[in-house]
Amino acid sequence: MAAHGEGIDFLKTQVLQSLKESAGYLSGQAIAEKLGISRTAIWKNVRQLQADGYQIEAVPNRGYRLIKGEDVLSREELLLLMDDRWIARYVVFYAETDSTNVRVKALAEMGEPEGTLVVADCQVAGKGRLGRWWSSPRGTGISMSLLLRPAFAPRFAPMITLVCALAVCRAIRTCTGLPALIKWPNDIVINGKKVCGILTEMSSEEEAISYVVVGIGINVNTPEFPPEAGVTATSCYLENGRTVNRAWMISVCMRELKDCYENLLYAKDLSGLLDEYSQYMVNKGKRVRVLGTAQAPGSAQAPGSAQAPGVAQAPGVAQAPGSAQAPGVAQAPGSAQAPGNAQPTGGVQPGGSAQDVRDQDVQAPGGSGELSGVAMGVSPQGALQVMDDDGVLHEVISGEVSVRGVYGYAE
Ligand code: BTN
Repeated sequence: MAAHGEGIDFLKTQVLQSLKESAGYLSGQAIAEKLGISRTAIWKNVRQLQADGYQIEAVPNRGYRLIKGEDVLSREELLLLMDDRWIARYVVFYAETDSTNVRVKALAEMGEPEGTLVVADCQVAGKGRLGRWWSSPRGTGISMSLLLRPAFAPRFAPMITLVCALAVCRAIRTCTGLPALIKWPNDIVINGKKVCGILTEMSSEEEAISYVVVGIGINVNTPEFPPEAGVTATSCYLENGRTVNRAWMISVCMRELKDCYENLLYAKDLSGLLDEYSQYMVNKGKRVRVLGTAQAPGSAQAPGSAQAPGVAQAPGVAQAPGSAQAPGVAQAPGSAQAPGNAQPTGGVQPGGSAQDVRDQDVQAPGGSGELSGVAMGVSPQGALQVMDDDGVLHEVISGEVSVRGVYGYAE
């Protein structure tokens, strides 16, 4: 696979842009003159755009007309919307792939630069946290992964997940007007249901990060979920009945991510973002149960862990005990689901759902049990501060823990 060169067709992007800018029909001759190419070349590019899913009318003696309002996800669409120098400067698009996190890891190993973005319309082996699957059906959601190469020590990496959650929360609010909130550390919820999950994976040496892959899955226009998912999963469409252009939402996510990530790089902690993060925290001030690796007060590292907590280690790199994102894991715990199967069983996570509910009965391996108390907020280093019933303040790092509201997924 060629990295950022793959599928590059600037001409196709320019033809698309011309059609988008035109209010009505645009003749092949007019586009040809504008772009300095032949009418045959225009026709070929129009055919390709149609094959990508664009509805383009071709009427003799009048020309071409793009039927607007379509939610087509394509590389050209994304390139037209991205305006930054480094983030999403290189975009790789797949109509279908296994997992965008896997694709970005491969690109990272090939030395691709920070900011490389992989987007897929459909994933057949999408990965969730804790070794689960993430369901990403065609034409409905956002599945994307971003390559970062932060120049700080691995212990800072969990904060990346938090800044990404804040960025996506902002983007969903901007693009939909919906009251998206953050369920620490990395779920985005709307009206108590999960609309987005983030899987951060890292490859590092002892004191330096080689790369971080941030994988973001957003249920954007998903019209329905299987019954077993419906309790805790939702989509933007299900919340307000409106579809959103996914390419636009991706571009807004990238803009916000750049802002939040650069803030983190500068401050080396979350101090500049903490007020906003706290304002959007769904579990702040609520009773929560933390399942898995509960931390002793003042502790910042999971017992026995050699890895930045909350960030799974990329394949080929030693993995901390108790870390659940085993390289090459093909199946969620307890699931009989094969990769690429269309319908989730117990193992597929369509944006929250079955596993989240089941988690309430699960203790993470190596975890010291369950901590219950009131979520007070987040520390500048990104730890969840939980006051237990004896008034002791615990700092919980975003390792392989699950946080649940005592009354439900986020309540
Ligand atoms: C979670 O379990 O909440 C995290 C889900 C992360 C899913 C996204 S979709 C894009 C990227 N590619 C993957 O395989 N997973 C992440």
